[in-house]
Amino acid sequence: MQSIKINTAEGASLLIMGGTIDDIRDKLPASGLFLITDTNVKRLYGSVFPPATVLEIEPGEKSKTLEVAGDLCRQLLEAGADRSSFILGFGGGVVCDVAGMVASIYMRGVRHAFVSTTLLSQVDASIGGKTGVNLGTFKNIIGTFSQPEFVLCDHRMIATLPEEELQSGIGELVKHGAIGDRNLFFDITASMGRIYDRDPVVLGDLITRAVKIKAAVVRRDPLEKGPRRVLNFGHTFGHVLETFYMIPHGVAVARGMIIAAGLSVWKGEMPYSELRMLEVAIAESGMESDYDLPADVINLISRDKKSEKGSVNFVLLRSVGKTIIRRIPLKELGAFVDYYRERRDRSQSV
Ligand SMILES: NC(=O)c1ccc[n+]([C@@H]2O[C@H](COP(=O)([O-])OP(=O)(O)OC[C@H]3O[C@@H](n4cnc5c(N)ncnc54)[C@H](O)[C@@H]3O)[C@@H](O)[C@H]2O)c1
Repeated sequence: MQSIKINTAEGASLLIMGGTIDDIRDKLPASGLFLITDTNVKRLYGSVFPPATVLEIEPGEKSKTLEVAGDLCRQLLEAGADRSSFILGFGGGVVCDVAGMVASIYMRGVRHAFVSTTLLSQVDASIGGKTGVNLGTFKNIIGTFSQPEFVLCDHRMIATLPEEELQSGIGELVKHGAIGDRNLFFDITASMGRIYDRDPVVLGDLITRAVKIKAAVVRRDPLEKGPRRVLNFGHTFGHVLETFYMIPHGVAVARGMIIAAGLSVWKGEMPYSELRMLEVAIAESGMESDYDLPADVINLISRDKKSEKGSVNFVLLRSVGKTIIRRIPLKELGAFVDYYRERRDRSQSV
């Protein structure tokens, strides 16, 4: 077990990597604990839940709505939760995003922490204090920054994840290597068999190294004013694909990374050989990634949070492991999308 600390002016978070439920019992209050989970996670792990009032949501992205968050607040009130209560989000990224948001708004904020149960949430979603829900097809438009007091990542829980959800997590794992650590990227690609075997030791090593990258970025920029934007690599196109095709987050981000890497080459920022390396790594991870961009992709991106006054702050690569942020006018992005589509059509007709 390893611990990583994120200390920021807005709050501190202890990340417990590789621990078990027993490692958090002394961090939970003796009473006033409210546990938010989804029905799948409750079915699988309900027997190890600490004593708490349990509130359940439906699994999946459809639960990331204001209505669900509001309903949870109502249930908390009816169950007697007050400002001294403690919320434990127990689940994947959806549970963490919704439970974190509820904890940050209920009675103007109550203490909270997570037990993170998917690869994607252990690598990314439960770490760093971003909470949120979607508005229609627009991802994470409503949310807050609020650091969980602690996050427990028990890597053995990944054993029960469906394969598609494992792949989704691999997408975010690869992203961390791509933005911040070339050696991690190579180790992930070399360990794909062990990842699919859900080897907790290999997973623990790769997840912990990825989380160290994220933690370092969050410490520098907890409120995403600048440097934290690198964590959005692959997300501008990824979010569009995720909502358009209703595919898992990390699978969409994986495709979004390939497109963003293509843009990096198109803009002359990165050699083509690096793009190929990323394409091969994602292909070898077994992820279906051949999703075409919807016709109104630029219009959709114009309404993304990362978009301001007709341009978008775009995370590009200089090489695998090194990023650069460029402000790209939507018009120029449109020209790239035309080029990208033409290239894709040509390669498919061969
Ligand atoms: N806040 C952030 O910084 C951040 C970062 C990245 C992603 N996200 C968000 O995370 C969400 C995706 O998270 P996710 O991929 O964990 O999805 P998820 O929470 O929907 O979990 C995926 C599925 O796996 C099930 N599940 C959870 N743990 C399990 C386990 N141990 N065994 C078996 N099944 C299990 C869930 O019930 C669900 O059906 C997206 O909404 C994305 O926007 C947030």
